[in-house]
Amino acid sequence: MASRFLILCVLSLFSFSFLAVSSAQTNAFHGEQKVFDVRNYGARGDGKKNIHNTLAFTEAWIDACKWSGGRSTVYIPAGTFFLDQITFSGPCKSHITFTIKGTLLAPQSLNADRQAEWISFRYVDNLTVDGGGTIDGQGSYSWPLNDCNKNPHCRTLAMNMGFAFVRSSRMKGLRSINSKMGHINLYSVENFNITGVTITAPGDSPNTDGIKIGRSKDMHIFNVSIATGDDCVAILDGTSNLDISHVRCGPGHGISVGSIGRYKDEKSIEGITVRNSLFKGTMNGLRIKTWAKSVSETSVSNFLYENIQMIDVGNPIVIDQQYCPNYQCDSSGNYNSHVQIKDVKYNKIWGTSTTRAALMIQCSKTFPCQGVELSDINLVYKGRDGLATATCENVGGSVRGKIVPGDCRI
Ligand SMILES: *[C@@H]1O[C@H](CO)[C@@H](O)[C@H](O)[C@H]1NC(C)=O
Ligand SMILES: *[C@@H]1O[C@H](CO)[C@@H](O)[C@H](O)[C@H]1NC(C)=O
Ligand SMILES: *[C@@H]1O[C@H](CO)[C@@H](O)[C@H](O)[C@H]1NC(C)=O
Repeated sequence: MASRFLILCVLSLFSFSFLAVSSAQTNAFHGEQKVFDVRNYGARGDGKKNIHNTLAFTEAWIDACKWSGGRSTVYIPAGTFFLDQITFSGPCKSHITFTIKGTLLAPQSLNADRQAEWISFRYVDNLTVDGGGTIDGQGSYSWPLNDCNKNPHCRTLAMNMGFAFVRSSRMKGLRSINSKMGHINLYSVENFNITGVTITAPGDSPNTDGIKIGRSKDMHIFNVSIATGDDCVAILDGTSNLDISHVRCGPGHGISVGSIGRYKDEKSIEGITVRNSLFKGTMNGLRIKTWAKSVSETSVSNFLYENIQMIDVGNPIVIDQQYCPNYQCDSSGNYNSHVQIKDVKYNKIWGTSTTRAALMIQCSKTFPCQGVELSDINLVYKGRDGLATATCENVGGSVRGKIVPGDCRI
């Protein structure tokens, strides 16, 4: 009798724990989240300079990252949280979300450059950074000290937020303002999306690139507004399969590829699409630049630029294979880039240029561009000193439809 009772007990215990386990799994399956609120770790959102927030954020991240019961969320509520330089490292046990409702405030001082970024995520998969909040780099304190336009050994400052070795992840619905240098840095990421993000810094703030990408693949940048003092998007070597659409760029220097070709072992850039976007008041629009004195023989290929409006853009379409800023080439024109540019299509690009040089495609003498296709281009210069001009040097490819300015021989 007793033993039968015992068996019954054990059985019901089993079924009870079985139920518990299966219900936990069900919760995980339905995305039940365990929330790790930074306030519970002692973080304070009072906007005051404070060294404890960094520790609190780190501890909240560590707990969320090792949580294996389902999805986890590090939660930053409304309020202004001062935060020193910080790295959030994985790998984590499960999908992890970093929700910023309030504002994260960077230190003002220059010593925020112990690493490339102020806020850095590394070695994480399935990460979502969201919340509608703001990351404020407080760059106005360091911009006056930036001499990078004349000093090649200038000190580099922290970018606002970086993702390195991060896969299957996304950043959405956030604002990044006034970075010390660039805003968002992607390095060695894979399957990464940026959507609904707004990036702003004054048009005259130095080196405040919007999104900088290198050695990364399979990315979407969608519905993003970028107004900065440097490139809206800078695409560096080793980037492939990047789709940019519904981006509003300006002020800034445009969407730039490169420069590439300066250093040995640079990887090619391929499969870039920029569609359905607007450039307003930018210095350049769509630019590809390769280093004039290039040592590496690499390539830039398989690009599509389509359905893009330019409003008051300095140089809307540029391929520059003589790129050599700040007098680093003894005399320009003496060098031929070794970067091969091929299969670059421009389709339906229209609007206004603020200089006569609306279309400039200047390719390398030793590696002429191949497969450049121009179709339906209409770029108008608004000044009184003449019409818009097109320059095409060492370009192979084809022209279809109406092209204004039309004096380009391909
Ligand atoms: C990330 O998500 C993918 C697909 O859902 C899954 O296969 C992988 O195990 C996940 N990795 C982590 C660390 O959650
Ligand atoms: C990125 O966006 C694309 C297109 O909407 C989608 O197919 C892909 O699953 C997304 N990836 C991530 C990691 O969100
Ligand atoms: C685009 O992003 C903004 C936030 O910047 C958001 O309010 C809007 O709903 C997004 N639109 C689409 C189509 O995703």
